[in-house]
Amino acid sequence: MTELTFTRTEAARMPAAEREAILADPGFGNHFTDHMVSIVWTKEDGWQQPELLPYGPIQMDPASSVLHYGQEVFEGLKAYRREDGSIVTFRPDENAKRLNDSARRLALPEIPVELFVAAVRELVAADAEWVPRGADQTLYLRPFMIADESFLGVRSAERARFMVIASPAGPYFSGGVKPVSIWLSQQYARAGRGGTGAAKCGGNYAASLLPQNEAAAQGCQQVLFTDSATPDTIDELGGMNLFLVRADGTLLTPQLNGNILEGITRKSLIELARDRGMAVEERELTVSEWRAGVADGSITEAFACGTAAVITPIGQLKATDFTIDFGAAAPGPTTLALREELTGIQFGTRADTHGWLDLV
Ligand code: PLP
Ligand code: COI
Repeated sequence: MTELTFTRTEAARMPAAEREAILADPGFGNHFTDHMVSIVWTKEDGWQQPELLPYGPIQMDPASSVLHYGQEVFEGLKAYRREDGSIVTFRPDENAKRLNDSARRLALPEIPVELFVAAVRELVAADAEWVPRGADQTLYLRPFMIADESFLGVRSAERARFMVIASPAGPYFSGGVKPVSIWLSQQYARAGRGGTGAAKCGGNYAASLLPQNEAAAQGCQQVLFTDSATPDTIDELGGMNLFLVRADGTLLTPQLNGNILEGITRKSLIELARDRGMAVEERELTVSEWRAGVADGSITEAFACGTAAVITPIGQLKATDFTIDFGAAAPGPTTLALREELTGIQFGTRADTHGWLDLV
């Protein structure tokens, strides 16, 4: 059994006035809390004593394998402050399981689910003052694992480190639930059959940055990636899953095809929609179907979803040779209702009937 008691080294805390100034307008991913969690793994001895440490730079040998071969996986989840002041996280066990799925693909060690969840609780409890109180504000948690054996041969590392850091967050897209524009990447792919598309590893995001820059140059906030072999088939956005809504209320989302990340928001929304008696189709979706559906009125809404994005309405899909535009119809009523339901559960204003919340 892995040790769940953390060795604690107290940080010099940021003065309250300085912290509150940050929390008034935190942005996304710009500021970090006072502490971090670190747990070392070695092939020989497994997971070592978990530590809570002051947040700060870590020492790495320049030959560390993550710096050369990108052996890294990560997660993203949030802590929410409820009206009564209590703090919860959303389905942290699912993040632990997904980290392990990613770790297997990247030949990194798996971490016991209870150790991952304990690490998240430890950090949030230590830095509880950093969980904001404002509307739509959260503490974004970033667990990650890196290979840090110093060795230049190309093989899986025999030493790794798991860490958790935390960053107070406002909405990922400025403008709240304002619809975003999406750029269809026709030149670049994010994943291919047998690749790492279904894993949450840094390399996938590195590969998405050039097309993301292209999207920004086109005035778009995210990139839509399609299947590299059948380019009409929709996969997902650079950092979010995608849903379409039919006029009859049916939700459509790409099936898990090995190329896309199995989003915990995606999975939760499918359950919430089915609870409401809505039909959900997880299947192959194409850009052609989206275009035709908007043209004939059978597809009325589109949204992106993920921990960072929550549920963000999509107003436009732009490509080199066409634009799909929902115009004044975005954000649509289904998008807004699902958003309200999900955030209601997370912030404690709606009942958590599925037992998704983990009290810190
Ligand atoms: N797809 C990608 C590529 C992502 O980076 C994310 C964000 O984590 C998601 C989907 C959504 O996953 P989740 O809902 O678990 O945050
Ligand atoms: C998340 O939603 O947690 C992600 O990792 C995606 C990224 C766009 C921040």
